[in-house]
Formats: sequence, C-alpha cells, structure tokens
Amino acid sequence: MRICVLPGDGIGPEVCREAVKVLKKTEPCIELIYGDIGYEYYTKSGNNLPEETLRKVSSCDATLFGAVTTPPNIENYSSAILKLRRHFNLYANIRPIKSIPHQISRPGINMVIVRENTEDLYSGIERVEDNGDRAINEMVITRKASERIIRYAFSLARSQGYKKVTCVHKANVVRAACGLFRKIAFEIADENKDIPLDEMIVDACAMQLIRSPESFDVLVTTNMFGDILSDEACMLVGGLGLAYSGNIGKKISVFEPVHGSAPKHAGKNSANPLATILAAKMMLEHLGKHESAKKIEDAVIECIRKNKVTADLGGSLTCEQAGDAVLEEMR
Ligand code: IPM
Ligand code: MN
Repeated sequence: MRICVLPGDGIGPEVCREAVKVLKKTEPCIELIYGDIGYEYYTKSGNNLPEETLRKVSSCDATLFGAVTTPPNIENYSSAILKLRRHFNLYANIRPIKSIPHQISRPGINMVIVRENTEDLYSGIERVEDNGDRAINEMVITRKASERIIRYAFSLARSQGYKKVTCVHKANVVRAACGLFRKIAFEIADENKDIPLDEMIVDACAMQLIRSPESFDVLVTTNMFGDILSDEACMLVGGLGLAYSGNIGKKISVFEPVHGSAPKHAGKNSANPLATILAAKMMLEHLGKHESAKKIEDAVIECIRKNKVTADLGGSLTCEQAGDAVLEEMR
C-alpha cells in the first residue's frame, strides 16, 4: 500500500506525524511518499501545488493531507486544497458526525454529511464590475455533478445502513441553482425507493441540527452549504479537533482533518492530532483495510474515554503524547 502524505502548513506537519505513527503501527508495510504543498512552499518556490506533488498523489493508493494556510491578501492565490480537489475531480466530500463518549459531545448522533465538492460558489467564476463597486460570484449547479453526488449519498446510506437521505437546499430563494439540485434529488430518489428522501431548507436544517441532531442520517447538499453545516455539526460531537473527512474521486482520494493550519498553534506541540488520525482511519476503510481502521477508531475512543487527550478536549497531553496514547491503546 502506497500512501502519499502532504503535511502542508502550520500544525499540519505535527498532526500528520502522529497519524503516520498510528498508520505504521497497524500497517507496518505501508510505503509513504511525502509531497510539498501550501503557503510555506509557495514562499520558497512561487507555487503552492507543484507538478511533482500531483504526480505523487496520482501514483499512490490514497493521500493523507494535513492543512494549508491560505492568505486572503495575495492576488490570484487559490487555496492548495481547493486546487487539489479540482485537479483530481474529487467530487464527494464525506464528513461523518458521530457522538463520542465524552461530556463535550451530545449523545445519540450518527450522521454523514455528503457535500458536493466541485462546483456551486466554489466554481471560481467571478467578476468585479462598476469600478469595483459590484462583485459577482456565480453559483454553478450542473445535472452531472448533482446526479453523481446524490447517487453517492444513496449508495453510502445503503452500504452503511442509514435509514434516509435528506437533501438540503435553498430552492425557495435560489430558484434556478438550488431548484435544479432539488429536482435531481427527487429524480434519483425514484431510482432508490428502498431509502426515503426528505428535504430541508438550509436555514431550517441549521436549526434542526442543534434542536434534534439525532434525527439526521445522511445529508446531501451543495458545496458551500455543506462547508458551513459540517463545521456546525462537528461542534455537537467534540468540535474541530475530532472532525475528519474524505475527498473522493473516481480513482484518487484525499483524506484530511476538517480543521485548518492554525498558525497560532503551530510548532507548539499542542494541536489535537485525533482528527488527522481519524482521517487516516477513514482512508484505511476506503482502501478496504477494515480491521486496521477499527483498531484505530477503538483506540481513539478509548483515549477519549480515559481523558488521554489534548487541552481542547479537557486533557493535558501534548500533540505527540496524544499520538502515543493512541498507539498504547492499540496494543
Ligand atoms: C473545508 C475548508 C475549505 C473549504 C477551505 C480551507 C478552502 O473550509 O475543507 O471545509 O472551504 O472547503
Ligand atoms: Mn470548511
């Protein structure tokens, strides 16, 4: 098994180091290929996603990504993770939200947010008019991308035993773009009669996520709504220090923590590595290594149960110690 590791900026290298330790423990024969990505590499080379890295990602079975910094004030600079998603057409962004045995998590929650990952307001089609006083970003929704993400949501629901799929949109206002997404969701539902589809307007969904998060199974939504709802939802079950995700394409897949590079915390050995460790677990599941994945997940849950965690979860361990604690629980 060949895994590409892209640590990136800020706390990315620290959290990836711990995840790699854990991966090596369950899969000793794993081959690791490291690649450059992100803002720090850009300051040295003028490029935040070199060709060489793209080749490495292509040559591996899957990729583990840490985090990158994206300064908002450099003209024509585009986030390296967005470029990576776009380049490899990683169309599905999968974000599991599950309760953990810890007082900061609410109980009884088990949902997956299936976020479309290639279009919507992320399509990059924008212009500024009227001497800078009018700015337009296009929300692009296509039948092709909508069909494939909605199909993905139904098959994920079926294979993982979820009872329903909820399509989240704003078709009452954004009539053309969200209207198309909604219409296609009901078309695809007709091909998947074993799993019921319901729908929710995005603002109501944001409210229901707080009011009754136990009632959700699989949510499928457009890119920006998925971005926002997944940050909201992860706060119900332990926060960004535990939230992980997979960017899935036809052949290539990239797994990452949902948190960013947190420059303020970088190099302090204080970041929580569990989100990246869980991203590695998700990667192993994707590669069919279910036993190893289960071992990692069980060990992480044991660490949480025993409060062998970093400060964000109320513990007192460093990033490195939190990684070691997971290794210890895997014995
Ligand atoms: C995420 C992040 C990214 C996104 C940023 C860093 C470009 O917030 O993965 O959710 O908006 O998709
Ligand atoms: Mn986000």
